[in-house]
Amino acid sequence: MQYRTILRTACVVILLATQSVAQSQSSTYTDIYTIPPLSAVPTFTSPLAISTTISTGPNLSNGLAQTPPMGWSSWNGFGPNINETLLRDTIDTIASNGLMEAGFVYVNLDDGWQHYLGNRLDHPLEADPVKFPSGIKALADYAHSKGLKLGIYSGPGQTTCAGYTGSQGHEAEDAKLFASWGIDHLKYDSCCAYQFAPKSVVQQVILSMSQALLASGRPIVYHACHCGWADSWEWAAQYGANQWRIGQDISDDFDYPGNRMKYFFDVLDLLDRGNSLAQFSGPGHWNDYDMLIIGLNGKSQHVGAGCSNVEYRTHFSMWAMVCSPLLIGSDVRALSSDSMETLTNPEIIAISQDLLGQAAATVGVGNQDGGTLQVYAKAMEDGSYAVALLNRGGVTADMSISPQRDLTVAWDKYTVRDVWKHETTGPYDTPYMVEVIGHEAKILRLYEVVPNATMPLP
Ligand code: GAL
Repeated sequence: MQYRTILRTACVVILLATQSVAQSQSSTYTDIYTIPPLSAVPTFTSPLAISTTISTGPNLSNGLAQTPPMGWSSWNGFGPNINETLLRDTIDTIASNGLMEAGFVYVNLDDGWQHYLGNRLDHPLEADPVKFPSGIKALADYAHSKGLKLGIYSGPGQTTCAGYTGSQGHEAEDAKLFASWGIDHLKYDSCCAYQFAPKSVVQQVILSMSQALLASGRPIVYHACHCGWADSWEWAAQYGANQWRIGQDISDDFDYPGNRMKYFFDVLDLLDRGNSLAQFSGPGHWNDYDMLIIGLNGKSQHVGAGCSNVEYRTHFSMWAMVCSPLLIGSDVRALSSDSMETLTNPEIIAISQDLLGQAAATVGVGNQDGGTLQVYAKAMEDGSYAVALLNRGGVTADMSISPQRDLTVAWDKYTVRDVWKHETTGPYDTPYMVEVIGHEAKILRLYEVVPNATMPLP
């Protein structure tokens, strides 16, 4: 009863906002993109208090996304101000500047591609003919002709988060439509329409589209986006999702908790949020820490002052360590050489795309110095370990890693590859010590030195 009342109130608010937009030619999406007041957002408990139950469910799987999806998404850089020219330029850029070769293949339209603002009861779902005069199929064909893939966005409500027509009651029809267009990835966003819904209701709407996508016969990666609510990580894989958000929208900040009051999470917030959720991630189903902020430089559609190059590098490295999807959120046509160097480091991408698919979490002496210094690790398919020595504070610190102490392996000797320096040192038989500057993450690959064996070096 209470849920119905809240939902009805939310619908009325969205309807009124939508009508006011329709009446005012000069309105922008910020008039209708309602960021929930903090009091309305379910509060997050400490990561340690999060349940670790893996629930049972319908056990659906499309077999896709065996490694975390990599690509680009339009929302954080452009909001709903997207169009065919921007998308074609983005496709051209990714296909030619080294990003595609590095593994970034999904070019994802987020909210705002649709023709109509307002309820699905009143409008069909179709592409905005002004923004996309050639239609979405032509865009997908274009992406495919360049070796890329095209993603699209919808949601299970009458409207999406930005107030555009949603898929409610038309799941099978929309899945078929997306398949006929050649869509490869769907972000299906229940955050706004089902924000206050009980878990069982969210599960049901995620399931409806999951089944519809499977029935469409086209392999479409399925992002069940629910902003970190309803414990999606516990059940979304069972409902056929390939990725789900573990938190609200990312702000363009490394460490600025003030923005959480405005609904946004910074890089450290999201890492903390995910640290106890690593076990829910794996091949085909990933914890999504939200889009990459590298290159936004304070120009996000949301909030954030931007980060230093070191902070963006740490953010990218850590998203790779925790196996988050890697979706660039900035304007790829304007990436600096520093941003390009960060985004295309093949050794970081190898950590993200490792076939074992183990998401890193803090280990061993994981919380030194009151939690300012953290050690994250993940096992790699080849028997090596990827390690992040993360200095969350602003002061340079000496940090160390010991395979026996921190990874609990019985290695006597090991070598260390610094994947930002592209340098291998060792062998070592004592803890490896290194200086880590403020907000830096030293990313290392540790290889056991096996007596009388030739160790393959990367
Ligand atoms: C939010 C979502 C954002 C973006 C936006 C579009 O719910 O978290 O990533 O998709 O909706 O309206």
